[in-house]
Amino acid sequence: MTNRQEMTQTSSGFYVSQEAPIHPDNPTPTPTSTPPDVLRCAYMELVVTDLAASRVFYVDILGLYVTEEDDEAIYLRSTEEFIHHNLVLRKGPVAAVAAFSYRVREPADLDRAVEFYTELGCEVRRNENGFVKGIGDSVRVVDPLGFPYEFFHQTDHVERMSWRYDLHIPGELVRLDHFNQVTPDVPRAVKFMQDLGFRVTEDIQDDEGTVYAAWMRRKPTVHDTAMTGGDGPRMHHVCFATHEKHNILAICDKLGALRRSDAIERGPGRHGVSNAFYLYLRDPDGHRVEVYTQDYYTGDPDNPVITWDVHDNQRRDWWGNPVVPSWYTDASLVLDLDGNPQPVVARTDTSEMAVTIGADGFSYTRPDEGEESMPEWKQGEYKLGHQL
Ligand SMILES: [Fe+2]
Repeated sequence: MTNRQEMTQTSSGFYVSQEAPIHPDNPTPTPTSTPPDVLRCAYMELVVTDLAASRVFYVDILGLYVTEEDDEAIYLRSTEEFIHHNLVLRKGPVAAVAAFSYRVREPADLDRAVEFYTELGCEVRRNENGFVKGIGDSVRVVDPLGFPYEFFHQTDHVERMSWRYDLHIPGELVRLDHFNQVTPDVPRAVKFMQDLGFRVTEDIQDDEGTVYAAWMRRKPTVHDTAMTGGDGPRMHHVCFATHEKHNILAICDKLGALRRSDAIERGPGRHGVSNAFYLYLRDPDGHRVEVYTQDYYTGDPDNPVITWDVHDNQRRDWWGNPVVPSWYTDASLVLDLDGNPQPVVARTDTSEMAVTIGADGFSYTRPDEGEESMPEWKQGEYKLGHQL
């Protein structure tokens, strides 16, 4: 921010400003090359250790559509998708993310991606035939933050299943909505993503200016990806959207009926950030999957940037439910372009868990009443080890 006097506090408790109030101490250099024109997050390539177990989770339970599969990989898509896939499950020895893949506007954007990342000294590889099935000419890079990305334009078109109501299930996943990445230095990551053409929609800060997380978009929703502060580079979650809240409740009911309620990590609930209804699941390898619905339109150039106070107990869950510690600490490894896990660097800024639910942490319900606005019986929920 860091000066909250320059921001407007809304009647809902958070702040709004016109410019993203995030300033890095250690910025990546801004390339002189034009960045590729990113359309949207398109798919994630996920390495899983047991392909059959993952197929049960993503196909039999969550109902993603199989575009193509073999002994090594399964290519899955959501209901409304017309490109080949939104998720690749690839069998491998270490559960990790092989690529966060973005679709770009035109083939020339691949040349721009090569120039942009080469200028930054990043490792860049291009494959005219694509790195996975269904995707044509593609560029893969490891960015300055250590994350593996892919950019592509050409892809096989497949049938959009929206009208196939005979196949839909109560918990239908209709779109890939976003990625979420864990990185030690959120302001540095945000500045780099801004250079790549992303815009900040929301963030979480304290009044000293420490940034705990930021949400950024290319498509006109709250985000295509978010940067969450923590040891990284790691992948926090991949998120699919449903049409309605009741679809998310149906997934919970189904998991209970299957005696797989242990796949539910957090939620269902309503986020403060993004205003979306949410549920967090863990797949058989522990990869986190969010199911999400009903965030808001962000496509105007003067879309206000929302800043939440880290101590606002409604920022992560609008109903004030506690965030479970595993949600803060656990995340998936990411791979380099040769398939080796990227080293994880520890966060040195204070952690959101420590300042909110740790021994010295605190949260408030009503900003003007401060910490005392949380009743004593509820404060225990926010101290590690206090749970019964
Ligand atoms: Fe998310």
